[in-house]
Amino acid sequence: MTLLAKRSIVKEDKSNIITLGAIAKEQKKKDPEVINATIGMLYDEDEKLFAYKSVDKALNILTTDEKYAYGSTPGSKDFHEAVKQWVFRQYYNDFKDISAVMATPGGTGALSNTFANYLDEGDKALLPNYMWGNYKQVLYENHQDFMTYKLFNDNGGFNLDDLKKCMLELKESQGRILVVINDPCHNPTGYSMTEAEWIAVINMINEISADGTPVILLHDMAYIDYSKAGFDFTRKNISLYKKLNDNAMVIMAFSGSKTLALYGVRLGAQVAVSNNKQNIEDFNKANKFSSRSKWSNSTNLGMNLVTKVFTNKELKESFEKELEDSRNTLIKRANAFLEESKKCGLKTLPFDCGFFVTIPCDNPEAAYDYLVKKKIHIIPMGKVLRVTISAIPLKDCIRLPKLIKEAIDATK
Ligand SMILES: Cc1ncc(COP(=O)(O)O)c(C=O)c1O
Repeated sequence: MTLLAKRSIVKEDKSNIITLGAIAKEQKKKDPEVINATIGMLYDEDEKLFAYKSVDKALNILTTDEKYAYGSTPGSKDFHEAVKQWVFRQYYNDFKDISAVMATPGGTGALSNTFANYLDEGDKALLPNYMWGNYKQVLYENHQDFMTYKLFNDNGGFNLDDLKKCMLELKESQGRILVVINDPCHNPTGYSMTEAEWIAVINMINEISADGTPVILLHDMAYIDYSKAGFDFTRKNISLYKKLNDNAMVIMAFSGSKTLALYGVRLGAQVAVSNNKQNIEDFNKANKFSSRSKWSNSTNLGMNLVTKVFTNKELKESFEKELEDSRNTLIKRANAFLEESKKCGLKTLPFDCGFFVTIPCDNPEAAYDYLVKKKIHIIPMGKVLRVTISAIPLKDCIRLPKLIKEAIDATK
């Protein structure tokens, strides 16, 4: 006998990332030799959680009001402007009047609001087959469902054909489409789309929505500022959103957790773009309602912190320099990991940059158990093993591939 309502009986946090991450953290506390490559946070080469000095500086100059007073539900005008300037950068003027921002608790809040307001009960979102698993839980919480498109084609590129096939299937079955693209530095693979792939996606959305079918692109940009191609490339891809027709709309999920390493502060935003004014007004109205009903308002401290870092000239410049250093650290770790993988014959899924490298594996749970005995903690998921290179120093990126290969071979 349970007191839970029917839909809640099956609720169980299936994301082993948090659970296995907590186990690894506990083991590491007891034994510094443990390698904890589980949770998606950035650690420095001394294995300490990395914090941006510019963000700390901004925190120290916030007033009592800026830190502790209630914020407004959608966030202040200053916060909205700051986020727009950061997200659109050199294209700010093109987008400032056709976009809107809604503050949310992390990128997760942005995903939750977007699913809630652009899919009806029982509708399916279109997700990549390799994905951050929490999308599924957020959808379940919203009484919604999902189907998946194959992320990769046979050449290891973005699978435009399968995406189109799935979009057309959903157009037929539910008359609206909400597709999630997590780019660049996709979690868990580290794949980043090319400019040509982005252009093809935008053309596809315009073609499919030309008859009035609503198409929402939910661009999960959690890791955008860690793209090794840098700001100019990622923002040039965003500039393509100007070309979307009136029945299509993009909502970007911005994550202060990742861009500013503010994981526990819980601050993010939905950033909507549409050439149709009505879509922007509807976005503001519905998402303000959802935010007020779910979390009332987002952390004022987080919003003011982000606003300061993004708009104070000195802080912004030093933050950008620090970000560049973080990107370079990640590139060095990734290069070392991939080089050693090649040497020992460990296969990885298509990778470009970011926090994670993913390894195909037939028996990931067994490989996980084998590795834990060797004091190595990574994440088994589906038919892959995910290694969080953002959380381990260079020396471990060099050591790990051979040990993982050994584990996979021993547990086949
Ligand atoms: C792909 C992806 N999207 C969104 C998020 C949400 O992060 P947060 O809610 O902390 O901004 C994460 C966090 O790990 C993620 O990996």
